[in-house]
Formats: sequence, C-alpha cells, structure tokens
Amino acid sequence: MRKKIVAGNWKMNLNLQEGVALANELKDALAAEKPNCDVIICTPFIHLATVAGITEGTVIGLGAENCADKEKGAYTGEVSAAQVKSTGAQYVILGHSERRAYYGETAEILKEKVNLALANGLKVIFCIGEVLEEREANKQNEVVGAQLADSLFDLTEEQLSNVILAYEPVWAIGTGKTATAEQAQDMHAFIRGCIAGNFGEKAAEEISILYGGSCKPSNAKEIFSKPDVDGGLIGGAALKCADFKGIIDAWN
Ligand code: PGA
Repeated sequence: MRKKIVAGNWKMNLNLQEGVALANELKDALAAEKPNCDVIICTPFIHLATVAGITEGTVIGLGAENCADKEKGAYTGEVSAAQVKSTGAQYVILGHSERRAYYGETAEILKEKVNLALANGLKVIFCIGEVLEEREANKQNEVVGAQLADSLFDLTEEQLSNVILAYEPVWAIGTGKTATAEQAQDMHAFIRGCIAGNFGEKAAEEISILYGGSCKPSNAKEIFSKPDVDGGLIGGAALKCADFKGIIDAWN
C-alpha cells in the first residue's frame, strides 16, 4: 500500500518564533487526534534545527524546501543536502516551480540535487507541473513527462523508492484556482503510467503522488478521493494550524 501524505511547504514565510509556535500547535493538535496519513512540514533552512527538536518522536516529518546542487565547499549562502540531514530533517522539496522559474533551476541542476539528497539519506519530494499556456495548448502531459524523464529516469528503482512526487499545476499555485479533481486524477494517472513505463508496475504502484495548488480544507476531500491522488503539498493553507489540520482530516 502506498503512503497517504499531507505535506506543508511554508515557503519564505514565518520568522523563527512564528515557525516554532506553528510547529508546537500542530504537534499538540496531532497528539490529541492521530492523523490517518503521514504528515510532513517543510520549512525554511533557519527553522530546521529548532523545529526538529519539536517534531522528534512525533508523527510529524520534517523537510527543507531546497538544497544545493554541490556537495560542499566554497558556495557562499548555499545549504548542502548533508547539512539539511544534520539538522534532523528527513525530507527535501526539489524542483518546485518557484525554484525553476525564479532561480533558474534546470532539469540538469535538479538531477544533481536529487542525487545528492538521496545519497545523503534524505527523501525527496519532487515537484512537476505545467504553466497556464502549456495547459491551454494541451501540452501538460508532454511537459510533465519531460520533467520526470529529464531529472528522475536515471535513478535506480531503489533510489526512486525514496522519492515522492508532487503534481503542482503552476496556474493553481497560490492563485485560489484549484485543478478539478478530474484534472488532478487524469494527470496523476498519466504520471503513474510514466513511472510504470520506466521503472515497472511495482514502482508505479508504490510511489506516492501528491497534488499541490490552492488545496484547502474545503476541496481536499474531493481531490484526495481520486484513486491516483495520494495526498497534497500545501502552501498557503499550511501556515495556519486549523487549515492544515483540516486538510489532514480529509483522510479521515
Ligand atoms: P499553495 O502552494 O497551496 O499556496 O497554492 C502550493 C505549493 O506551492 O506547494
């Protein structure tokens, strides 16, 4: 059985004190009511070590939102996969559309990052998704298929077992405009087919594919009810405990 997952992506929000308060609030909420899925929060680098002390021994997994494409050394301002791992974090988001669009992260760079993250014992939440013009031109499958092939298809099946996919149509991120449950299901089924084609049916059956893009308590249940949707990657709604918990509860 593949894992059901709700993961939060805090992006560049919350100072350290606010992040600690949110992590504590979530910890208490999930201690009071055990979630029916895996729960992960991905935070800015500066929060990781402190939040790791809060999430340790709880059901909450912890991840970074990025890591460097270099192993170590003179790369001022960068944070390596090994450094992320040393905070106690277990996950890293890679390939988010904001990183691809604003920081020039190419498929090649992402391939390096994925390899380094996996080599350092992190699980990767790998994001893929088309922009609006690509969707309007009905090119979404082509785009997402290429994103998968260009960064992930050289992995071994064993490496892939430490990858979670997140389909995030760029036009749905932070816009309030969610993909319909049918659009999500169609794309997730296509993605699972791509994984089956390259890694085989077993790998495709086992990999979790999350939906991301304006997911909220009010629409999560419908989206998660689709057979190929294994959960969500949540931005804005992960910044308030009640909203994030509301999405986690969609699995109840
Ligand atoms: P959103 O962001 O939920 O605010 O749309 C999702 C994401 O970018 O991961």
